[in-house]
Amino acid sequence: MATTPRDAAANQLLQFSKEHEGKIESTTTTFGTGVPEKDASMTVGYHGPILLQDWVLIDELSHFSRERIPERVVHAKGAGAFGYFIVTNDITQYTAASVFSEVNKKTSIAVRFSQVAGEMGYPDTYRDVRGFAIKFYAEDGIWDLVGNNLPVFFVKDCALFPSFIHAVKRNPKTHLRPDYDMFWDFITLREETTHTTMMMFSDRGIPANYRQMHGYGVNTFVLVNAKKQVHYCKFHYITNQGIDYLTSDDAQKIGGVDPDYHIRDLYNAIETKNFPSWNFYIQIMTPEQAGKYRFDPFDDSKVWLHADFPLIPVGKLVLNKNPKNYFAEVEQIAFDPAHLIPGIEPSFDRMIQGRLFNYGDTHRYRLGANSGQLAINSPPDYTATPETGPSAHPSVSITGPIERTDSGNDDNFTQSRLLYRNVLKPEERGRLIQNIVSWLKPTNSVLQQRAIDLFSKVDESLGQKIRETLNESLTQHVVL
Ligand code: HEM
Repeated sequence: MATTPRDAAANQLLQFSKEHEGKIESTTTTFGTGVPEKDASMTVGYHGPILLQDWVLIDELSHFSRERIPERVVHAKGAGAFGYFIVTNDITQYTAASVFSEVNKKTSIAVRFSQVAGEMGYPDTYRDVRGFAIKFYAEDGIWDLVGNNLPVFFVKDCALFPSFIHAVKRNPKTHLRPDYDMFWDFITLREETTHTTMMMFSDRGIPANYRQMHGYGVNTFVLVNAKKQVHYCKFHYITNQGIDYLTSDDAQKIGGVDPDYHIRDLYNAIETKNFPSWNFYIQIMTPEQAGKYRFDPFDDSKVWLHADFPLIPVGKLVLNKNPKNYFAEVEQIAFDPAHLIPGIEPSFDRMIQGRLFNYGDTHRYRLGANSGQLAINSPPDYTATPETGPSAHPSVSITGPIERTDSGNDDNFTQSRLLYRNVLKPEERGRLIQNIVSWLKPTNSVLQQRAIDLFSKVDESLGQKIRETLNESLTQHVVL
């Protein structure tokens, strides 16, 4: 019989049966004894009640009712894959971290890509930031680099993270998402969100797939070398597949037909041996440079300009293996920015500081107190040497008044302006405006005005064009 062409993902079950052909494998209970009859419960006569001694049924039902765990509070939907990191350039002058100890050194990695705000069943092609988290199974412990596909983040104080996330989740009364009023209310009241908001409404807001996007550690880290010298660092991973995006129209159509579009793409690419890879870079800043830099180096709503701090090549990430069991290897994987190895430290960036607490805390809730003992989260045996071991911690002393200072009043527009005027090409600026307007149209007129005022602070003409495009589109369509 003729069938439509099927990809590797669609053929997974056929492939499985081919691989297991001729092998005698019987169904067992969770404690390993064979199940003689899978399709019938044990009853007293045909119409009689089921017996408590039907431990096969009890085993199955009790596991069935516990087979889901809470989804991640953010980044709920995602795809995972495995591979390796290989060092191509020596950076031991900056860090004693074991993963970078010599050229050609290979470290096993697990990667999880995700979208931020949507739940488990949300379409992959929705406009959102994407997560790009890497677990390095280093010889002296686990290092998790829990990054995103944009180099900056909306807020720079962890105190604001829950409020921001609430603004992009479901409205607590209507249970509807997106709620454009909640979104624009938050964005326009916190001007530091402008830079990341503009990136999210640029082409980068809907990557073509998970393979064709870059990744960034976003937060500022501290590298410590064997002499205990300290450098500040940002991590970048640049796609070798070429960066690509979906237009809003295409994304909507695809999302309606195939909500798992990005998960499918990654699975099929790896299954057909089209292994994706990223070149791994660092930016380095000395403490002296940090003291003088015109942008706050610990503010994650800002980049370190490449012209000021060029990318230094370090290595390559390659993904060459799909999960065998999605639940055990991807749903239960636990990334945590506090999982650091000697030679890599957190900086005083207020976001990374908050993240150091929050991931472990959510893992204790989502996966239980022993999540670290799950196979996917377990480190290899500890074999640290004195060179790479705990000696690579700097000693830092710091003094200052204890106070709460709002971080939002810093320079919030210079980098957004550079992005708009110098980085985006004219056609990209056009799509940025269209994309912003498509989210402004459904919001109320007070917030529309606040948003126009906000973008006018980036560039008068940007605000003006948004106003014109919004007015045009409002006359063309009835807004519900
Ligand atoms: C204070 C700020 C932040 C807090 C409190 C926070 C909190 C969280 C929490 C609770 C999770 C769920 C983890 C899980 O259930 O395993 C999560 C996931 C994640 N976060 Fe954050 N986050 C923050 C900022 C950021 C930033 C700035 C980035 C980007 C660099 C980021 C990237 C990610 C990624 C990629 C995941 C998904 C990890 C995975 O695939 O399992 N987060 N975050």
